[in-house]
Amino acid sequence: MAREADLTPGEIAALHECARAAAHNSYSPYSGFRVGAAVLLRSEGGAAGMMVAGTNVENASYRLTSCAEQAAIAAAVAQFGPSIRIRAIAVVNLNGSECMPCGACRQTIVEFAGPEAEVFYPSASGGVVSTTIGALLPEAFQLKSD
Ligand code: THU
Repeated sequence: MAREADLTPGEIAALHECARAAAHNSYSPYSGFRVGAAVLLRSEGGAAGMMVAGTNVENASYRLTSCAEQAAIAAAVAQFGPSIRIRAIAVVNLNGSECMPCGACRQTIVEFAGPEAEVFYPSASGGVVSTTIGALLPEAFQLKSD
């Protein structure tokens, strides 16, 4: 059954191309693991159909590394404001490796996406996994305060 968030093949290809272009700018001298990510935005804030990319930026103090997904989302907020909503995100890797979003990135995606938002990432077999953020992080942390 088609999901509401389903994308056209052209949108999926464009999103991957956007992510791949960013991956070529990866700053990853420590791991050599070149990652790119691109988010496709929903209509909030006039951002419908816009794609914003990010890449991983490493640091000599390893824990300060920023993942490509986090970089893409930060750039999208910077360009389109705090009300952005993510329709889909594609992750690519130039090393030919499996590259699913890490746990921290999943939580970051959840902040700006409903559970049906599409996530594409490279599989171990060289293909692309297509799933949703709800499937990748079913019990995301939510801040409930009163
Ligand atoms: N990396 C990402 O950019 N996204 C992920 O979801 C997983 C890992 C980066 C961080 C680091 O620069 C390199 O890949 C190796 O972990």
